[in-house]
Amino acid sequence: MKAAVRHEYGSPDVVKLEEIPKPTPRDDEVLVKVHAVSLNSSYWEFLTGKPAYIRMWGLLQPKCKILGSDVAGRVEAVGKNVTQFQPGDEVFGDLLERWGGFAEYVCAPAKALMSKPPSMTFEQAAAIPQAALVALQGLEKGRIGRGQKVLINGAGGGAGSFAVQMAKFFGAEVTGVDSTRKLDIMRSLGADHVVDYTREDFTRTGQRYDLILDFVARRSIFANARSLRPRGRYVLVGGSVARLLQLLLLGPLMSITGKKMGILVAKANKDMARVIELFEDGKVLPIIDGRYTLQEVPEALRYLGEGQARGKVVVTVCP
Ligand SMILES: NC(=O)c1ccc[n+]([C@@H]2O[C@H](COP(=O)([O-])OP(=O)(O)OC[C@H]3O[C@@H](n4cnc5c(N)ncnc54)[C@H](OP(=O)(O)O)[C@@H]3O)[C@@H](O)[C@H]2O)c1
Repeated sequence: MKAAVRHEYGSPDVVKLEEIPKPTPRDDEVLVKVHAVSLNSSYWEFLTGKPAYIRMWGLLQPKCKILGSDVAGRVEAVGKNVTQFQPGDEVFGDLLERWGGFAEYVCAPAKALMSKPPSMTFEQAAAIPQAALVALQGLEKGRIGRGQKVLINGAGGGAGSFAVQMAKFFGAEVTGVDSTRKLDIMRSLGADHVVDYTREDFTRTGQRYDLILDFVARRSIFANARSLRPRGRYVLVGGSVARLLQLLLLGPLMSITGKKMGILVAKANKDMARVIELFEDGKVLPIIDGRYTLQEVPEALRYLGEGQARGKVVVTVCP
């Protein structure tokens, strides 16, 4: 089978299309013929090996040679202990611990997969698993409620574009923060207000929020706390190691002020039934910007790394 393989850390140019053996599923696994895979911002870090903590997954060379964790496809074969799927079923899921999605076939633990609704395309299904779940779990950790003022930092990106739609569904007044070229997409997803971070610092506008959901965590914990209402909540989903450490150390102290500041530790594939329901009711739709073929995985990674994507970037393996 064909796969987009890399043997070293580096730029997208280290990824090459190779012919490799088709994998065989173990007893608890499913062999999936991959139709589509979506990219997450973490792929850039796993590709380049930066920041340094990524080297826990391979000090000098990456252990994971084939990136791609959010996959959608058709079951080709099942291991002898798998009862919930059979060949021909359409499935999708987050193979976070396995990777291997940038290939014509991938083996996945059956428990990491769920049935793809017929109304969902393979591209849409691939765009959903990680991004939609961190958005949903982040909003729920922040105890989102009707009528709240919610700020989403990084609202034009993969996960942020889901979070805006979900926050509107929950009845919040939403402010989206992102770069200039993403203002329109945030508005079209339902954001009531938008802030261009290249021109304005949302922590200095004087506005206060019940919930800040932060996908990029660039501002200090103190600046974010200043932007919360008295019993407001700040949920850090992604950001630099320095910001994570600052929040781990100082977050518990901030609770003295009545404001809660915490970090989301997302659970892969949890609450997917809820996301499927929101999709089928037309409340949440994946926003797909870049579309690439398996051969074009280096271009897809470059597009991701340059931060150009509005919403999700998807690789279609089997059209
Ligand atoms: N906590 C967990 O358990 C967990 C699990 C999975 C993923 N994550 C994290 O969740 C995050 C999800 O990100 P994603 O996939 O949605 O990334 P993404 O698609 O790259 O989106 C990030 C967005 O933030 C924007 N941005 C960059 N700098 C900004 C700033 N200073 N202020 C406001 N917006 C800014 C980017 O726009 P420009 O590039 O145009 O500037 C981009 O639109 C990642 O950090 C990932 O590591 C966390």
